Amino acid sequence: MDRSRNTKPIRTQEASSIEGEDILSVQNISKTYKLSGNKVTALNGVSLQIKRGEFVAIIGPSGSGKSTLLQLMGGLDKPTSGTIVVDGTRLESLSDRRLSRFRNQTVGFVFQFFYLQPFLNLSRNIEVAAMPSRMKKGERKKRIAQLAQRVGLADRLTHYPRELSGGQLQRAAIARALINNPHIIIADEPTGNLDSQNTQEVVDLFRQACRELNTTVVIATHDPMVASKADRTVILKDGALA
Ligand SMILES: Nc1ncnc2c1ncn2[C@@H]1O[C@H](COP(=O)(O)OP(=O)(O)OP(=O)(O)O)[C@@H](O)[C@H]1O
Ligand SMILES: [Mg+2]
Repeated sequence: MDRSRNTKPIRTQEASSIEGEDILSVQNISKTYKLSGNKVTALNGVSLQIKRGEFVAIIGPSGSGKSTLLQLMGGLDKPTSGTIVVDGTRLESLSDRRLSRFRNQTVGFVFQFFYLQPFLNLSRNIEVAAMPSRMKKGERKKRIAQLAQRVGLADRLTHYPRELSGGQLQRAAIARALINNPHIIIADEPTGNLDSQNTQEVVDLFRQACRELNTTVVIATHDPMVASKADRTVILKDGALA
């Protein structure tokens, strides 16, 4: 199959420099929202393949369907039609319980507004994401310490979110997203609230996760600098690949 037909790379003519198996395959998906009698078509016939360890940026104007696509890829919502296969599993075939487990075990989510719990310190914020899994307490504590080190927050684990800067909050959210060793990180405008220095640090953390942990990273961004650091850029326009 000619993958380059569906994804127009900005930086290179190659579909991607990453070789290997697809971890995520989006096949002809559409998503229509019904809102008080009105239908909004957010995605219309989108197909896309992403390889293990690849860093893909999704760009496009406001309202083009980026967040919708990420939500469907992460199993947060279901497409109106079409199929999404992650790690060999068709998401639509999963029961709600299995879908919830899939979200917890396979995907790490990072959002623009961090969504850390204000009443939990950083260590607990990271730890709660590991609760649904079978990870033992000792292992959890060890991983939290390693991840805090990885994101440069080893000396902030007892701090509360209100005591952290925006960049630190997002790095904490990335540590939380990595706690269950996810195969995929899905990040929606992860640098939308950060200055350029913190943006750079967050992008570096994503790159590091790809390189060192073989994590696949899919992000939506409005920032051309962030998109330029990805292996591949996918452009959405009016709910379709441009
Ligand atoms: N829950 C919803 N109910 C109804 N319409 C929705 C819903 N979520 C998104 N939409 C509509 O779907 C379209 C795509 O929205 P989406 O949030 O995916 O765009 P986006 O590319 O992420 O935009 P932005 O860059 O502003 O974040 C828009 O027209 C939006 O109004
Ligand atoms: Mg969005």
